Amino acid sequence: MKGIVFTEFLEMVEKKFGYEMVDTIIEKSELESEGIYTAIGTYDHSEIVQLIIHLSSETNIDVETLIKEFGRYIFDAFLNNYPMFFDASPNALEFLKSIDSYIHVEVNKLYPDATLPSFATEIKDDGSMEMIYRSERKMSSLAFGLIERTLEYYDEEYTVSREFLNEDGSRVKFTISPA
Ligand code: HEM
Repeated sequence: MKGIVFTEFLEMVEKKFGYEMVDTIIEKSELESEGIYTAIGTYDHSEIVQLIIHLSSETNIDVETLIKEFGRYIFDAFLNNYPMFFDASPNALEFLKSIDSYIHVEVNKLYPDATLPSFATEIKDDGSMEMIYRSERKMSSLAFGLIERTLEYYDEEYTVSREFLNEDGSRVKFTISPA
């Protein structure tokens, strides 16, 4: 998993819960990196999982809520670091469609070792859009937070619902419907 995910995650923890919490969750986890991350480095996915699980037990906030909140937070980092991907799309659904066909493709060129999910999108007759998330990282809550922030950013009124297509959460359907 790319370092930007870790640096943004720890920055969010510091802002919301204070620096001591950053220290605590790093101490409690068994990290090959020892909790030292650079934005362009690559680290084991299990490190973010451990950090989130410890943040959850320290704060009594459930894991999925924390990951979703992190999805909302990392959106702003993407906006600051990669404004061209937003400029390329005039509205929220175009932007969301472009993740799989363009954004993550470009991310993969920049970082060939990135581990990205896939999204299959389909526009329905009623104007809603279905997005099927597939990833062995099972981080659909991250996608959920990112999708919600995307709709806020484009200032469009949609509701988002999520349906698990299998038990382990590696296949998940989002339906984004006009409010
Ligand atoms: C400018 C916009 C975006 C950029 C630059 C971007 C880039 C990235 C990067 C660098 C990673 C980490 C890959 C790794 O750790 O190896 C990632 C992962 C991910 N991205 Fe994006 N992304 C963008 C937008 C989105 C949006 C809007 C969604 C939501 C639908 C999304 C869904 C995800 C998910 C769920 C992951 C976690 C990995 C997984 O589930 O397999 N991304 N993205």
